[in-house]
Amino acid sequence: MSTKWCVIGAAGIADRRTIPGILADPDNELVAVMDKVPAAAKSIGEKYDVPYFTDAEEMFRAVPADAVYIATPVFCHKEQAMLALRYGKHVLVEKPIARNEAESAEILDAFRRAGKQLGVGYMMKYHNLHQKARNFIKAGKIGQPNNIRLQFSCWYPDIEGAWRQKKALSGGGALMDLGVHCMELAEFVLDEEIVDVKAFYSTHTFSYEVEDSAVVIFKTKSGVLGHMDVNFNIPDDASVSKMEIYGTKGAIVCTGTLGQDECGTMSYLFAPQGDYEAMQNRVSAKPKKYRGAGKNIYTKQVAAFKKLLAAKKPNYKMAKRAVHIQALTDKIYQEQ
Ligand SMILES: NC(=O)c1ccc[n+]([C@@H]2O[C@H](COP(=O)([O-])OP(=O)(O)OC[C@H]3O[C@@H](n4cnc5c(N)ncnc54)[C@H](O)[C@@H]3O)[C@@H](O)[C@H]2O)c1
Repeated sequence: MSTKWCVIGAAGIADRRTIPGILADPDNELVAVMDKVPAAAKSIGEKYDVPYFTDAEEMFRAVPADAVYIATPVFCHKEQAMLALRYGKHVLVEKPIARNEAESAEILDAFRRAGKQLGVGYMMKYHNLHQKARNFIKAGKIGQPNNIRLQFSCWYPDIEGAWRQKKALSGGGALMDLGVHCMELAEFVLDEEIVDVKAFYSTHTFSYEVEDSAVVIFKTKSGVLGHMDVNFNIPDDASVSKMEIYGTKGAIVCTGTLGQDECGTMSYLFAPQGDYEAMQNRVSAKPKKYRGAGKNIYTKQVAAFKKLLAAKKPNYKMAKRAVHIQALTDKIYQEQ
C-alpha cells in the first residue's frame, strides 16, 4: 500500500529536494501541500498537481494522509508537529528538530505518548559513502578510531527578512544550521554519542545576529576526539565539505560528501603499523578510492522513514539523537 504524504512549508527545501525525493518512489503519493504564502502554496500545488492550502488544519481535515513532512523555519516545527500529531499523523520534520533541547524533547515526548512515528531530516547518513565509512569502522578496518574532523560551509550573506539570521526564529546560525548535520553524521559513522563539546563562534563577516563562523571540539563516549568547523562566510565553490576519520590502523577521508547530493569521493587507507618507524616513511601505502553513487538521498531518507512506519512499534532512535544534538548545541550557546 502506498504512503500518502502531505507537506507543510512547501516552497523551500521541500520543493527543491524532498518532494522530488518522495515522488521518485512509486510507493509514495503526494496528496496535498500547504504553505503560509498563498502564491507559494498555489505554485507548488499546481506544479505537483495536488490540492494546496494556506492552513494546515484545513489540509488535514480535507485530505486523508498517513505522514506529514514539515519543512518550515525552525521556530514553526514544534507547533506544526504537535498539530499534525493531533490529527493522528506520523511526522518527518526537517533538521534541526526545534530551536533547543526543551522544545525538541517536548515534541519527542508527545509522539512517544501517542505512539506515532517521528523522524528528523538528517539525510546525510543515507549517502552511500557515509554508510560505507560506518561499515568500515564497524568492521575494524581503521582499528580504534581516535580522531574525526568535519568541515561544512556555504555562502550566506545578509538577507533582509531571512528567518535563519534571527536567533528567535532559527535558534542559531552556522552551528544550528550546518553544525547539527556534522554532529549527527559524526555520531552516525562512529555509532556512538558525543558526550562533551566546547566551541568558539562569532559573527565575523556579516552583520546579522546569529553566528556566521563556529569551531567546535568534541569528545565521544569511547574517547574519540573530534573537531568541526562550520561557516556561512565561505563561497560555495570554495567549500570543500569534508569528513576525515583516523584510527590506529588507517584513515577514511570523505571529500565533497556533506551536502544535498550523493556525490564526492572517499579514500580509504588501511595501513596498520607495528614498530615505531623513526624515518616516518609515508610513501608506501596507497589509498583506495570510492565515488558517491549519485542516488537521491532524500528518497533514501523517506524510504528509511517508511520502514519505520511499517514496523510494529515506533522507533525513536533517530528522533532521540536529534534531541541529543540540540542538547549539545544548547551547551555550546550557553557556555560562550
Ligand atoms: N536537510 C536538508 O537538506 C535541508 C536543507 C535546507 C533546509 N533544511 C531545513 O528545512 C527547513 C526549512 O528550510 P528552507 O531552507 O526550506 O527554508 P525556506 O525559507 O526556503 O522555505 C520555508 C518554506 O516554509 C514556508 N513557511 C514559512 N512559515 C510557514 C508557516 N508558518 N507555515 C507554513 N509554511 C511556512 C515559506 O513560505 C517557505 O515556502 C529548516 O528546518 C531547514 O533547516 C534542510
